[in-house]
Amino acid sequence: MTAELDKRQVRMAFSRAAPSYDQVAVLQREIGQRMLDRLELVKLQPTWVLDLGAGTGEATADLARRYPRARILALDFAFPMLLRARRKGPLFRKPGCLCADLEQLPLANQSVDLIYSNVALQWCSDFSRTLSELLRVLKPGGLLMFSTFGPDTLWELRDAWSEVDGFAHVSSFLDMHDLGDALLRTRFAEPVMDVDRITTTYTDVGGLMRDLKLLGAHNATTTRRRGLTGKGRMNAMREAYERHRIDGRLPASYEVVYGHAWAPLQRQEEAGVTLVSADRIGRL
Ligand SMILES: C[S@@+](CC[C@H](N)C(=O)[O-])C[C@H]1O[C@@H](n2cnc3c(N)ncnc32)[C@H](O)[C@@H]1O
Repeated sequence: MTAELDKRQVRMAFSRAAPSYDQVAVLQREIGQRMLDRLELVKLQPTWVLDLGAGTGEATADLARRYPRARILALDFAFPMLLRARRKGPLFRKPGCLCADLEQLPLANQSVDLIYSNVALQWCSDFSRTLSELLRVLKPGGLLMFSTFGPDTLWELRDAWSEVDGFAHVSSFLDMHDLGDALLRTRFAEPVMDVDRITTTYTDVGGLMRDLKLLGAHNATTTRRRGLTGKGRMNAMREAYERHRIDGRLPASYEVVYGHAWAPLQRQEEAGVTLVSADRIGRL
């Protein structure tokens, strides 16, 4: 489950977008809020909480309020995002900030109780390997809760570009069922997946392109067309997008996928050795 992604480009785009991100991240905040609402239903008293791909730290601050006794970590590989995350949140409860790649976490095995990740995992290049990494750092009984985008996301934009050339202009996203299968293969327990469809609308394609740029959500596929997009090709795409106009507005669809799963209480390692967290030994 690999994506052809230029991660250097992803990191640069998000670093540049850090100052503008909050102005346009309306959808991202809404999805993050829906995930936080889901957390209400889960009985958990975490000691360590990791906000994975934290961005400007909107949810990091909410997590700090929700779990006043927990130590909160914000992790992102775009340093300018973390500078903003550091400023948010309740006074005296600033998060610990880790500038690192979420596919290779600088954290000890079985050290985190809750990993929360809002619309960041679609930017990893190897989803299965990333899940193994997340399972490695979760304590037994720890929870992974995430949201990401599914394949129908921005389908109108992908469709419009397909009439202009054969290059990838929109990232490809993984299907909810494949994500669920990957969780099971990695040996996460009791995975639950579901999907929401949200449509934002614009007066013109320029508005959508501007928002994507200000968010840092650039086309970073390795199969993208290099160099500037000429005026002629851009106009052809605009024209093709017009076919999707409904009630005077241009829609941009998002398939939002939510998932959560637990780190098993006992871990079967390949060698047949069972690892049990030291703090559970008394209870077992
Ligand atoms: C769409 S933003 C979401 C930010 C935040 N979670 C929110 O809800 O607003 C995705 C974030 O993931 C970060 N990111 C993407 N790939 C990453 C990686 N491989 N390692 C660490 N952070 C990554 C980006 O820098 C960006 O800040």
